[in-house]
Amino acid sequence: MKDIAIVTGASSGIGKAYVRELSQDKNGYEQIWVVARREEKLLELKSSLEDARIVPVVLDLNSPSFADEIEKKLREDEYNVKLLINCAGLGKRALVEDQSVQALGATLDVNCRALTLLARICIPYMHKGSGMINVASSAAFLPQPGFSVYAASKSYVTSFSRALAVELQPSGIVVTAVCPGPVDTEFQANATDGKASEFTGFRKYIVADPVKLAAASLKAHRSGRNLYVYGISQKMLHLASKIVPISLMLKFMKVKK
Ligand SMILES: NC(=O)c1ccc[n+]([C@@H]2O[C@H](COP(=O)([O-])OP(=O)(O)OC[C@H]3O[C@@H](n4cnc5c(N)ncnc54)[C@H](OP(=O)(O)O)[C@@H]3O)[C@@H](O)[C@H]2O)c1
Repeated sequence: MKDIAIVTGASSGIGKAYVRELSQDKNGYEQIWVVARREEKLLELKSSLEDARIVPVVLDLNSPSFADEIEKKLREDEYNVKLLINCAGLGKRALVEDQSVQALGATLDVNCRALTLLARICIPYMHKGSGMINVASSAAFLPQPGFSVYAASKSYVTSFSRALAVELQPSGIVVTAVCPGPVDTEFQANATDGKASEFTGFRKYIVADPVKLAAASLKAHRSGRNLYVYGISQKMLHLASKIVPISLMLKFMKVKK
């Protein structure tokens, strides 16, 4: 059997950082499938890492056919999915009424539908010792007016991952939901349609490095953690979200109309 890793969202940010980490493990995987839409970025990553094991898989996770395409590819050989990292994701910082139906659909399709289907497709190709990392967010901890669909989609990812972890535990497969706060990637620019490429306000003081996040979360996953909240500030937020009533927190959240 061929041990492989699959990383979605590999063309930039956190996904790319995961691929860099996996690439350092010379004996861990026979192939590392890197999934995203931008082929040139995937090819760039492969050549910059000089790693022949990297296999670019150009897929739009928003397309109805993506699941069939990846399933077909998995049937081509005797693959063992040793690690699946569901990292692709997006979200718009805007009121629901100001977002197009297509933009809302794409957020839900990539963050929830594609992640769930990919998990389901890979499970039959996983064995004892395999693992899955689902990148959620600290946005999952409480509702966020002005970022509501993204935050709700990440609550889905966390809830789904924690339940799946229990379902797969008897098979010896570890599932980890990773919850970072702000991370220095293209995410913020995409979330604001290019209006703010960097985090502002208090977020700029707590913004995380994607490489450190990838390394730390892989370590947490390998130690068997099912939920990994990255950074002191996000751990405090997580704790607060358990103690302070959400209705009270929402009273302090204002949105500009
Ligand atoms: N950055 C943050 O502040 C932050 C904080 C918490 C959680 N997260 C989560 O971390 C994950 C990675 O985000 P990031 O910060 O690395 O952002 P990023 O730099 O914008 O990367 C997003 C990745 O998702 C891929 N993607 C988006 N739509 C896709 C589609 N339809 N089909 C295939 N791939 C698609 C993109 O690839 P292509 O464009 O090439 O398709 C890209 O590789 C996301 O799930 C995000 O929600 C980010």
